[in-house]
Amino acid sequence: MKVLFLNGPNLNLLGQREPEVYGRETLADIEAKVRKRASDLKVTVDFQQSNLEGELVNWTQGAKGKFDVIVLNAAAYTHTSIALRDAIVAVGIPTIEIHLSNIHAREKFRRKSIIAPVCCGQISGFGPKSYLLALEASVDVNVSKKAD
Ligand code: DQA
Repeated sequence: MKVLFLNGPNLNLLGQREPEVYGRETLADIEAKVRKRASDLKVTVDFQQSNLEGELVNWTQGAKGKFDVIVLNAAAYTHTSIALRDAIVAVGIPTIEIHLSNIHAREKFRRKSIIAPVCCGQISGFGPKSYLLALEASVDVNVSKKAD
């Protein structure tokens, strides 16, 4: 089973960016934790970050036929990107939306996710653990996909 982790804009700055909101772990720290747990679960992961909306769209499109599940922290594009939403629908790969912070407990503009209706679920507010919870959920999502 293969899971593609996609990370959107400014997540390359984790660790130094608003640590009171996003914590002190870097994206590389989180990736290392994800890879360790993935190896226990016998899941292959790819982990990408981009500040560019089009690059995230390209990676989503490129996942077709290669990945079973996408875990997406679209960062600010969560709240704005119709292009990313359309790409998720176009590829038809089960996608789990994640956030480090609880977007529903923050500013009003963050409470709306454009991608949520086309994702199979949302994990929001558990810091780096959101990534590990999504990895666990990916396994369940893949099992129920095969049972269909
Ligand atoms: C975020 C929440 C978004 O609202 C924000 O734009 C981010 C990070 C999170 O992981 O909590 O960049 O996706």
